[in-house]
Amino acid sequence: MTSLPLPLLIALAACALSGAGRTGLPGPEKESPMTVTDLTCEYRTDPAGIDAVSPRLSWRMSSPARGERQTAFQVMVATSREALGADRADAWESRKILSEESVNIPYGGAPLRSGRAYFWKVRAWDAQGAATAWSATATWSMGLLDPEDWKGVWIGLDKGEPAGKDSVAADRRLPARWLRKEFDAHGGIVRATASISGLGLSELYVNGARAGDHVLSPALSQYPKTVYYVTHDVTRLLKEGRNAVGVVLGNGRFFAPRQNQPTFTQSFGFPKLLFQLHCEFADGRSADVVSDTTWSLTTDGPIRANNEYDGEEYDARMELGGWASPGYDDGSWQRARAVSPPGGVLRAQMADPIRVTATISPVAVTEPRPGMFIFDMGQNMVGWCRLHVEGTAGTRVVLRHAETLRDDGTLYLDNIRGAKVTDVYTLKGGAAETYEPRFTYHGFRYVEMTGYPARPGPGSLEGRVVNDDVKSAGEFTCSDPVINRTYRNIVWGVRGNYRSMPTDCPQRDERQGWLGDRSAESRGETYIFAIDPLYAKWLRDMEDAQREDGSVSDVCPSYWPLYNDNVTWPSSTVIIPGALLDQYADSAVITRHYASMVRWIDHMSAYVVDGVITKDSYGDWCVPPEDPKLIHSNDPMRKTAPGILATTYFYHDLRLMSRYATLTGHDADRARFDALAAVLRDGLNRAYYRPGDGWYDNGSQTSCVLPLAFGMVPDAERRRVFEHLVRKITVETHGHIGTGLVGGQWLNRVLSDNGRPDIVCNFATDTTYPGWGYMATKGATTIWELWNGNTADPAMNSGNHVMLVGDLVIWLYEYLAGIRPDPAAPGFRRTILKPVPAGSLTHVRATHTSPYGEIVSEWWKEGKTFRWSVGIPANTTAEVCVPSAGPGEVTEGGIAAARASGVRFLRQEAGYTVFAVGGGTYEFRSGGER
Ligand code: BGC
Repeated sequence: MTSLPLPLLIALAACALSGAGRTGLPGPEKESPMTVTDLTCEYRTDPAGIDAVSPRLSWRMSSPARGERQTAFQVMVATSREALGADRADAWESRKILSEESVNIPYGGAPLRSGRAYFWKVRAWDAQGAATAWSATATWSMGLLDPEDWKGVWIGLDKGEPAGKDSVAADRRLPARWLRKEFDAHGGIVRATASISGLGLSELYVNGARAGDHVLSPALSQYPKTVYYVTHDVTRLLKEGRNAVGVVLGNGRFFAPRQNQPTFTQSFGFPKLLFQLHCEFADGRSADVVSDTTWSLTTDGPIRANNEYDGEEYDARMELGGWASPGYDDGSWQRARAVSPPGGVLRAQMADPIRVTATISPVAVTEPRPGMFIFDMGQNMVGWCRLHVEGTAGTRVVLRHAETLRDDGTLYLDNIRGAKVTDVYTLKGGAAETYEPRFTYHGFRYVEMTGYPARPGPGSLEGRVVNDDVKSAGEFTCSDPVINRTYRNIVWGVRGNYRSMPTDCPQRDERQGWLGDRSAESRGETYIFAIDPLYAKWLRDMEDAQREDGSVSDVCPSYWPLYNDNVTWPSSTVIIPGALLDQYADSAVITRHYASMVRWIDHMSAYVVDGVITKDSYGDWCVPPEDPKLIHSNDPMRKTAPGILATTYFYHDLRLMSRYATLTGHDADRARFDALAAVLRDGLNRAYYRPGDGWYDNGSQTSCVLPLAFGMVPDAERRRVFEHLVRKITVETHGHIGTGLVGGQWLNRVLSDNGRPDIVCNFATDTTYPGWGYMATKGATTIWELWNGNTADPAMNSGNHVMLVGDLVIWLYEYLAGIRPDPAAPGFRRTILKPVPAGSLTHVRATHTSPYGEIVSEWWKEGKTFRWSVGIPANTTAEVCVPSAGPGEVTEGGIAAARASGVRFLRQEAGYTVFAVGGGTYEFRSGGER
């Protein structure tokens, strides 16, 4: 049941409870064996500095018993840990609310106050009416909710370095700016919270120590519309008496005068800082230290040049010593100036921060030329290197980064294009030195080191893996090593392309949030990582970048303002909210962006002529080309008509909009979306369908896939279109993929849904061109941008793209392992478990951490027997579809399944026996092969 807004539900339940039966206090009930765990607020554990005025609270349940569910819950929220411990819920005492919901419960207490910390716990009642023990205490803290809460001003220096002072950096790479401020704090600090927005990038230090462990912070944004700030609890870093704070500012994408490298890039101004430190004292007083013109600033620090693409240059001889500690002599520094604000609304960064998430060691070091050492990290990774070196002052060690090598063992940099990818470290001399950059990142497997003062060993360099620190959401493994290798490559590629927005690639002069790459593919990512906050943030980027007339840029934030008005790329604004609803029960993204989606739909509707829309920019980008040197195919038979791409995608968008209109109560909108969708369906078939042939237009693979995927093919013609697709694949491309980035995001599901999962299994296990297995056998440790990435022109050939993943991950989880959410009870409130055993696979295991907890599907095919272990979280239900000829041949836990405890036979359908179950673990076995 999706449509009833939760606040309403809670209100109804609370009404029902007013009077008799209301229990605010623990009664004499017996304790439930269920436990309440994993409390999250806005999809995160104990988040700091959020700005949701009514944060959504979620918890999970576990129970030793099958079918256990929550029938009621009680939440207590207090303003101190002690108060909560004593059951004094001074912020919100929900009392017992009759509800089965345990995900996204909106906070319903007193208005939340800026900067305050809140502590909460929850207990639930089970089906027998017994209450659980209280959960462990969780917490969140509020950010600064009102612009008035910010007491400081933006500070910085709105000009470049004086001429001649810096001979190294091109003007697109200013030196870092260092800012500092000292202050006194007397009277016992009990809590100190720092709120910081340092643009483009910043690091905060308090009394010489780094605050927090975020890197490349804050999140990227459409700066004139939104500016993110980050909150750190710095209580432990402060001390009685004299204190100091220091901030280093890097350029990031804010100061980004890259002009035409490789295309017009927006730049937003010089780096700037807004800062506020709120100290609370034992006697109840509080004081703020804020950014203002009393701060000191210098550009004469060790970071001589920095940007994300070209690298960082660091001269250790210019280190500033105790610059972020009290008592430092900053007499030679200048005063920070008050500068204009960046323009956007200040918002709390709610998505996971970027962190160093792993450190890896090189697997080999070679010396292709004297003094030039090549380190092989063994993995195409994203981040930077940590250098260990000892030598004389002034020695320059230069690191360059690349994904592949030339035949002579030196770096292959052609495909990196205009990014310099060079970090330079100048030694201060004396003892051993360690350096890692702060304000750049690279996509690389190989590192070229020159200038090292001795012969480096493998220990001279470490790879620091840097990405949005998203939690893992599942694991996949199966009996086929090619699939396992591809899956591993995908995981590395996906995480490496999280840079507070999903990027196209991490290495060359691009690194943009291209919408089209992720339209459906992003749903697959939800099985790998917990990404609701990241994608919810990206949807805001899209709305922020939207033009008044409704046009959406192909790249968001629109650092490259590409308002081409094609359909396929901007469709992500409509498609992704639906995925977040299905996977996370996040209906807020739909409510929040509904108006913007309608604006885009209305804008694009003007391009519909005679029932079709032909606006397109990129075609079915990157179909496997006929010539190994080509990036794009020249063969008209491999291409798909723009009108098919645009019309089918727009039809799909309208169908989704109809769902969203229903959800949000916009009935009139729904009617017009449905009407326009019907017009497009007719238009497509009139303009492109060839009844004599049984296919659309030129019959390309994608021209079959899209109308089938979106249900646009007249029923009587479906079989013919599908058979044509199969013919194209088996005869023309010899069992290989012939789709590009658009068709590939639906291909595998269309094949499976129409009874040919074996073809998908072939795609996934094959190692010949083109395919993911081909990439792996050619040494790929991520997924390439081009099917022929090993032979194609380097002008556009990244070794780390996700777009060609298509819907493979969706297929692995939702089909092969058979875990998928029921859209009628989203967020895996009800799961459809329906494995599709394919090809010669004998074993598949997948786990998925849904908002309600972990779902497990593991099956073995042993001769004619299908053995299946299933795990379903408490407080959820599932429809379990066991591959079998009939209920008589299915057992669970060794007895006839229909008689097993908690298992209810529902129906028999095409090769599956379907049962209803609740939370718990189950062991099914069926006798016959499908
Ligand atoms: C990007 C792609 C993108 C495409 C669109 C490429 O350069 O890397 O990911 O979708 O351009 O044209």
